[in-house]
Amino acid sequence: MASAPAFAPLILWTLLVFQSFEFGHSEAFANVSCFGTEREALLKFRQGLSDHSKRLFSWTSKDCCEWKGVGCSKKTSHVFKLDLRNPCFETYPDGSCLDKSNLAGTIHASLVELKHLKYLDLSLNKFSRQEIPQFFGTLQRLEYLNLSSAGFDGNIPHHLGNLSNLQCLDLASRFGGGSLTTDNLQ
Ligand SMILES: *[C@@H]1O[C@H](CO)[C@@H](O)[C@H](O)[C@H]1NC(C)=O
Ligand SMILES: *[C@@H]1O[C@H](CO)[C@@H](O)[C@H](O)[C@H]1NC(C)=O
Ligand SMILES: *[C@@H]1O[C@H](CO)[C@@H](O)[C@H](O)[C@H]1NC(C)=O
Repeated sequence: MASAPAFAPLILWTLLVFQSFEFGHSEAFANVSCFGTEREALLKFRQGLSDHSKRLFSWTSKDCCEWKGVGCSKKTSHVFKLDLRNPCFETYPDGSCLDKSNLAGTIHASLVELKHLKYLDLSLNKFSRQEIPQFFGTLQRLEYLNLSSAGFDGNIPHHLGNLSNLQCLDLASRFGGGSLTTDNLQ
């Protein structure tokens, strides 16, 4: 009985070391896998958004890899995925979302700090009256970009043509509203 507490630190140590191997960190006691620069970038991005339903309430803790919608590589710990698709808990009869769980506001250019981003889904949100940011074209590793029914207006920036790794681009407007034009795509 008396020896149990004496073992506790050893067990904890073992767990921590095991965990740090699993996440590929060299520091034996590293607990937080998120990169500080990427966390800052995400926080700036969040500041530009309005989030009435508090979908991003988890975006406060130290480890941004644990935040809702954020995916980090198990190997490198870099953020590679941002899935902020509106879950659309309530819909109109035509299938379009009621406004409640929309993200809106402006998209901060801090996203370019996510240099390992492969997957970006902002679909079904309400970024009305704004064009698709040109800087999306600098997210060099992007493979998946879904901006469908996200309210974007205006011209599709030809900068998206710089995304040489892109395998999937969805800009469809499924429920009317928002109108993208393609005149300047070559
Ligand atoms: C380590 O991570 C756990 C779970 O995420 C957390 O509860 C704990 O506070 C962290 N410890 C330190 C020292 O950061
Ligand atoms: C893009 O998002 C919409 C809405 O969330 C979804 O229906 C569609 O399947 C997605 N497109 C692709 C190519 O994954
Ligand atoms: C990206 O595309 C734009 C417009 O097509 C072009 O002016 C720019 O030079 C490109 N940037 C890079 C880094 O290729």
